[in-house]
Parts: sequence; structure tokens; C-alpha cells
Amino acid sequence: MSDTALAAESASQSPLAHEVKRRRTFAIISHPDAGKTTLTEKLLLFGGAINLAGQVKAKGERRSTRSDWMKIERDRGISVVTSVMTFEFNDLVFNLLDTPGHEDFSEDTYRTLTAVDSAVMVIDAAKGIEDRTRKLFEVCRLRDIPIVTFINKMDRESRDPFDLMDEIEKTLALDTTPMTWPVGRGRDFLGTYDIATGGVRLLEGGGAKTGEAEQIAIADLASRNPNLDAAAVSEELELVSEACKPFDLESFREGHLTPVFFGSALRNFGVGDLLEGLGRYAPAPRAQDSAARKVEAAEPKMSAFVFKIQANMDPNHRDRIAFARLCSGKLTRGMKAKLVRTGKNMTLSAPQFFFAQDRAIADEAFAGDVVGIPNHGTLRIGDTLTEGEDIQFVGVPSFAPEILRRVRLGDAMKAKKLKEALQQMSEEGVVQVFRPRDGSPAMVGVVGQLQLDVLKARLEAEYALPVDFEISEFQLARWFSADDRKTFDTFVNANGSGIAEDVDGDLVYLAKNEFYLGYTRERSPGITFTNVKDVK
Ligand code: G4P
Repeated sequence: MSDTALAAESASQSPLAHEVKRRRTFAIISHPDAGKTTLTEKLLLFGGAINLAGQVKAKGERRSTRSDWMKIERDRGISVVTSVMTFEFNDLVFNLLDTPGHEDFSEDTYRTLTAVDSAVMVIDAAKGIEDRTRKLFEVCRLRDIPIVTFINKMDRESRDPFDLMDEIEKTLALDTTPMTWPVGRGRDFLGTYDIATGGVRLLEGGGAKTGEAEQIAIADLASRNPNLDAAAVSEELELVSEACKPFDLESFREGHLTPVFFGSALRNFGVGDLLEGLGRYAPAPRAQDSAARKVEAAEPKMSAFVFKIQANMDPNHRDRIAFARLCSGKLTRGMKAKLVRTGKNMTLSAPQFFFAQDRAIADEAFAGDVVGIPNHGTLRIGDTLTEGEDIQFVGVPSFAPEILRRVRLGDAMKAKKLKEALQQMSEEGVVQVFRPRDGSPAMVGVVGQLQLDVLKARLEAEYALPVDFEISEFQLARWFSADDRKTFDTFVNANGSGIAEDVDGDLVYLAKNEFYLGYTRERSPGITFTNVKDVK
């Protein structure tokens, strides 16, 4: 390429690089009730995405009159509008990816976390680190996702902030740096002290606003609230400055340190600080791993992967939306993209963006953005779309199910239809399907019981297939591999009825229980069993 051509190319790339740098794609991880929904609403308010707090929930409630499985979807806390929420703030574009509240749908959550560059961990100040937060944190850690912490409900009785930070450090093995510090507790919570500027932002009057905190001397604060022990506050702040680690951007970006903000989502307090912190420190779209190479976000060619499928978002249209995270380049409406799994091209004629209350056709989108691609079953979870290159993104995982059931069909004549329907459901990530090699009825695998309820309701509503689930002799499924083909084949032949195929045709070993699995493991040198698989 000539120098002029190179210069022209780099000039034409710079708007792309600029757009990529503006993006912050993140999720909120928390235990139910910690305040995720409330915080989401308040974040959206900042971006002007909604005018009225309460919309996120209200929308969910309005959906309650729909059919049964929609009810399950509602319980599951997912709706089209909350799957991904895009808003702008401070000239940055924030893509907030929602994760289902119910732990029976944790697979969905894990997959969504593969599509973000950072996460906000919301902790209830009275409860500290709870079970689900810890689990979700572990998933983030696997991918070195940087975490920003928001300690919520400071307007209520809460635990000692030092104690909470200590718990984060100990239970999550994550360093902490307070960015703000609460002044007063519970009913006497006055506001937060900004560690960097030394200013105090007061709960009464302007908590929602961002920008410089007011400079108020701690001693003067006592005059506003006689219950405040100014000396104790000063002492505490001294301890913070002596004992707490200073913020280290690199350590945060590597997932070793979390900046901590205190606030109250309900009172819209501290939310602005959190959002500013996210904008300032959270990474712009990161490079993504494909099987062949690392793909940089600012590369000019578009690439994306599908991490979630949502069906029947509009019951009148029976549409299926594949949510794709753009990994590089720019997507333009009408462009052709190659679906690498099949090698076929598809035209992206109506990619969609999602806002708090609405969706809209996306004319263009950039790396870091999430677009919804309407399709009728062409796309499945884990699919890669490119402008022609044969790369496959890795890291969208499948987890070994916790519950295995055989599917019993009332009407044997409909076996073929059931097979198709189950294939569809597994491609959407509703359940996993395993087909035993001995030809016995298919088994479905799920993480939580509610997934089975959704499957049953959807098979009935969409395919007129009433099914039941039977307890199976098998309780566990594990993918397996061997260093050489011969060892692999010998193992398969020796375990005839305990071998099944998953949706991709990969083999799993079905075990009656942990004891049998251990026994088989011992007797099968050269075979490696795993309970997580990257979707191909
Ligand atoms: P979730 O999505 O994480 O499950 O939590 P959600 O936001 O629904 O909040 C759970 C409860 O905690 C809600 O009360 C909510 O109002 C309350 N809450 C959230 N943030 C704060 C806060 O900063 N301070 C206080 N005091 N409460 C907070 P609820 O009574 O269960 O629901 P609702 O009837 O208020 O909707």
C-alpha cells in the first residue's frame, strides 16, 4: 500500500477508533434485592434514556397479562427492553446488559457476562457479599472483567464500611479502594466524602448531580445534623487515607482491584459518582479472543458473536432476536455478514438497538455495541458473524447441567416435530439437549427447574407438543476428550448407553452420580472430563 493510501486508511479509521473509545459495555452483578433494578433505573435517568424512574419495573408488570410462558419470562425478569439498555452520558455511550434475576437462569447470565468489558457489583450495605454475588464474581474473574463496586442502601442501617471492604478483600480476594466514603450511617447518613477532592456531597440537595462535590468542612457538617460525631468522622477519614490502597488503574483493569462507591440507589445518591467512575476507569471495548487470533476492537472489519437469543418478544410476530456483541469494526444496516458456522452470508437488513422503552432500527453500530438481529432460527448462541474472515470467537460457555430429565411425549407420532423443537430450544439456549447414542428418548439438561417450566410451556404454546419430564437414571453429563483418537473411541465403545450427543454433535458421558463419575474417571486414563464447554 502506498503512503498516501495508508494515510487515507488511518484517517478513515480514526472516526471508528473514536467511536470505539466512547463505548462502555457493562453488566450489573448482584444478589436479588440488593438494588439492581433500582440502580438500573437511576443510571438510565442519568442518560436521559427514561424520564420517569420506575419504568423498568413498570414495564415488566405490564407484561403480566400475556400468556403463561410470558409470565415465566416476566418472573425471570427479562423483557426486550431490559435485555440491553443503551444511553449516553458525558459524551460516552453506555451499553448496560441486563442479566436475569432468577438463579435458575444463571446460564443466561454467564453468557451475558462474556459480552461485557466491565461489571458493576452492587452490594447491600446491610448484608455484604451474598451467595449469588460471589458466584457471578467468579465468572467475571475467569475472564478478568474489571469490577466497580457500588455499596447500596447507605440510607438504611448498614454494616461498618471498613468491615464491608474487608469482606470484599477476604472473600473475593480482590483489593479495594474507596473512591467515596459515607458520612454518617442509616438515618443519619448525610452524604459522601469524595476521597480525591476532599469535598462532601450531601444527600439533601444535589445528590443526583455529578461534578465537583461541595467543599464542606466536616466540623460544619455537625451543625446540619447534631447526631453526627464530627471527631469520629475525621478520625475515620484519616484511617481511610492511611490504611486504604490508592487507586491503581492497571490493577483495576486486570481485575485485581475494585474501586468502591457508596450510595443509595433509591435516593439517587452516589449514582452519578458511580457513572462517572465507570466512564473514567472502565475499559473501552477490549480485544476479543477468536480461535485463530485476537481481534482488536478498532479493526475496520466488522465482527460479532451471538451471546443470547430471545424468542417471542412480540407474541404477535413470533420473532426471534439474536443479541450480538460487536467485537470489531462498524455494522451498517443492510450489510452482508458471513455466518462462519455455515459459511453462508446473511443480510443484516433490520439490526436493532434497544433503549429503555423502545427498540429502533440501527443504521450503524460500533464495536462494543449490542444489536438485536431478527431471524427465524438461522442464528444460534455462540455464532460468529464477520465480513468474510473465518474466525470463531471463543469463550461463550456451556455449563454441565445440574438437572437431567428424559422428555416424555404423549403422542409418539410427533417425535420428529419434538426433535426439531428441541433442537431449536437448545440453539436458543433455553435448555441443553442430549441425544443418547443408543437411540433412547432425548434428555434435557438445565441449571434450574424454571428452565424446564419454560420449555414445557413453550413446547405446548409454540409447537402444540404437550410433554412431561421423567427422572432419568443419569444425573450428570460431562464433556470429555482424549489426547488420541484411539483412546477416545475405546472409551465411547465401552460406554455405549452412557454416551450422548449435544447440540453441536459433541459427545458427553452420562453418569448415574458423582460416585460413578469418579469411578469411570479412575478407570479411564487418558480421558479428560469437563463441566464447561466453549460453544462452537
Ligand atoms: P434487585 O433488582 O437487585 O432485586 O433489587 P431492587 O432494585 O428491586 O430493590 C430491592 C428492594 O430494595 C426494593 O424494595 C427497593 O426499593 C429497595 N432499595 C433499592 N435500593 C435502595 C436504597 O438505596 N435504599 C433503600 N432503603 N432501599 C433500596 P421493595 O420494597 O422490595 O420493592 P419496591 O416495592 O420498593 O419496588
